Amino acid sequence: MNKIATAIKNTYINSFGDDSIIAAAPGRINIIGEHTDYNNGFVLPAAIDKAAYVAIGKRDDNAIVLISKDLGDTLETTLYDLMPIANSWTNYVTGVVDQFLKRGYSISGFNLVLSSDVPMGAGLSSSAAVECAVAFALSELFQLDISSIELVNIAQKAEHEFAGVLCGIMDQFASVFGKRGHAIKLDCQTLKYEYIPLTLNAVSILLFNTNVKHSLASGEYNVRREQCNEGVDLIKKYHPEINSLRDVTLEMLEQHVKPKNELIFRRCKYVLDENKRLADVCEALEKNDIKTVGQKLFASHEGLSKEYEVSCKELDFLIDYVKQKTYVFGARMMGGGFGGCTINLIQATEADSLIKEISEAYKIAMNKELSIYTASIGGGARLI
Ligand code: GLA
Repeated sequence: MNKIATAIKNTYINSFGDDSIIAAAPGRINIIGEHTDYNNGFVLPAAIDKAAYVAIGKRDDNAIVLISKDLGDTLETTLYDLMPIANSWTNYVTGVVDQFLKRGYSISGFNLVLSSDVPMGAGLSSSAAVECAVAFALSELFQLDISSIELVNIAQKAEHEFAGVLCGIMDQFASVFGKRGHAIKLDCQTLKYEYIPLTLNAVSILLFNTNVKHSLASGEYNVRREQCNEGVDLIKKYHPEINSLRDVTLEMLEQHVKPKNELIFRRCKYVLDENKRLADVCEALEKNDIKTVGQKLFASHEGLSKEYEVSCKELDFLIDYVKQKTYVFGARMMGGGFGGCTINLIQATEADSLIKEISEAYKIAMNKELSIYTASIGGGARLI
């Protein structure tokens, strides 16, 4: 048991007694395929070795008692009083419980202690990690034998209904299905997936956290989703068989969207390009062609920044900086955007000196601290 698991176990014992089980679910990185999941496209995420941990035990009434060890906060409610609380961490727990009830799973009250080492608001899916850890833990605790994909659906729906972010399926899927040393190539239309070995010889995956906290719920994320749907609707008038950007071609966009709405055209074109880049990256990974992988990452950032417009000046600064370095193969902003992390593929031997240099440059240019993590690829949701 690692430090976090031991700590929540002890808090649980002190608060409730010695009857808990412990579950964990990880955050994720995404190599490429950003804002493609809710457009029925492809994504290439991987679970990381940072995770949300819960200690959980049954009660013999209908009360739910939640403790966040990291925030020093507690919530007491019941199975019958579940509702979203604006901007509260508790939504990621109660939203999941709500889904269990809505889907008819039989559960009683429970006690839960939560702690996580997935940095919050960094684009590493700290919220999905909590949702998946809770869903997995409840399924185990009440011996419900829920399938992995159902756990993913429960966690995603909790985010929609209690956190108010109409997220795609990528984060929760990666958190449940993650596999050590592998990325997951997921087709978000069919939910078919394939594990792609991430054996990047002598290349480190570094994450640079801008420490600009993104707030997807603030609306821009949902706006992007609507804009993509608007593009689909414009095309649907002429091609009724089209249901998502997955079925759309560049010709259709140029013919039916560009003349009517240039902004919607740019948003939709980005999504088509990103799916293509992901296919190219998978092919390049197979050939160990890290140069091509890197170039596609830079191109992805360009699209996210200029066409999809979900970047920010801090993210752009970090990408422009590493672009000048021959030993950085590629980099881009990661996750929903407007803050959070960049993902960087760097020749391992150069990592230390780059970290030092870019931390100083970032501080001077942006007057903020840069946080740095090395992504190591771990497994999915599990019992500890
Ligand atoms: C957030 C969402 C995901 C996905 C990414 C952007 O992380 O939760 O579903 O849309 O943004 O790729």
